[in-house]
Amino acid sequence: MPKQKPVPSAPEQEPQPMQGTDKTLIQPFNQWMTPGEVEYVCELVKQAPPEGDILELGAWEGYLTIHLANTIHPRDLHVIDHWQGQLDEGDEHPSVLDAQSRDVYAMFQVVVDTHTKRNVRPHPGGIEEMLRVLFFEIAFCWIDSGHTYATTKAHIEAVKPLLVPGAILCGHDFVTAHAGRADLGGGVERAVRETLPGFTQFGNIWVWRNVA
Ligand SMILES: C[S@@+](CC[C@H](N)C(=O)[O-])C[C@H]1O[C@@H](n2cnc3c(N)ncnc32)[C@H](O)[C@@H]1O
Repeated sequence: MPKQKPVPSAPEQEPQPMQGTDKTLIQPFNQWMTPGEVEYVCELVKQAPPEGDILELGAWEGYLTIHLANTIHPRDLHVIDHWQGQLDEGDEHPSVLDAQSRDVYAMFQVVVDTHTKRNVRPHPGGIEEMLRVLFFEIAFCWIDSGHTYATTKAHIEAVKPLLVPGAILCGHDFVTAHAGRADLGGGVERAVRETLPGFTQFGNIWVWRNVA
């Protein structure tokens, strides 16, 4: 059993009909990932070792969340997000302004309550703080949080020591937040290249396996 502080149970409700990975569900609120990318990450999560927690860092409205959760059911999917948008890209970033104008976390809750079987465990808060307090053994971690070099590097370095043997660490925006982006300090690509030797790439997705 992964060591973890007790997490409150999900509310007792009748599960809604299981929707699986029906792509038609997700188009209305998809802003960040293609269906092909979602399918790829769902194949990756199936390869996670049986011991350890499964995490998504940065979920926004839950587009990927519902697919990951349905893929790994009955295992839990732990989600960390402060639901304030990409603050590391400045107060004027569209996601920050969007999060100030409406309750994105409430939308996330509706999405996961409607489309999953109650195996999503949200942890609202900062990623580094939540990782420090709640998690000790991680089998799979998807990172799609801030996209600056500094934030991506900090999140990778916070997760890496917690990975069990064979764990998979992966994330988004390797290409869109590429090393030439001075506005992001070299972005996701620079952080991955510096911290994860031996990583592989699938388009905009990067993947690293803890083979040590
Ligand atoms: C690009 S969005 C995630 C999109 C999501 N993966 C999807 O497919 O719809 C980035 C998310 O990371 C969250 N985030 C960014 N930096 C964070 C931090 N330091 N701590 C917690 N959440 C953070 C934002 O609130 C936002 O919801």
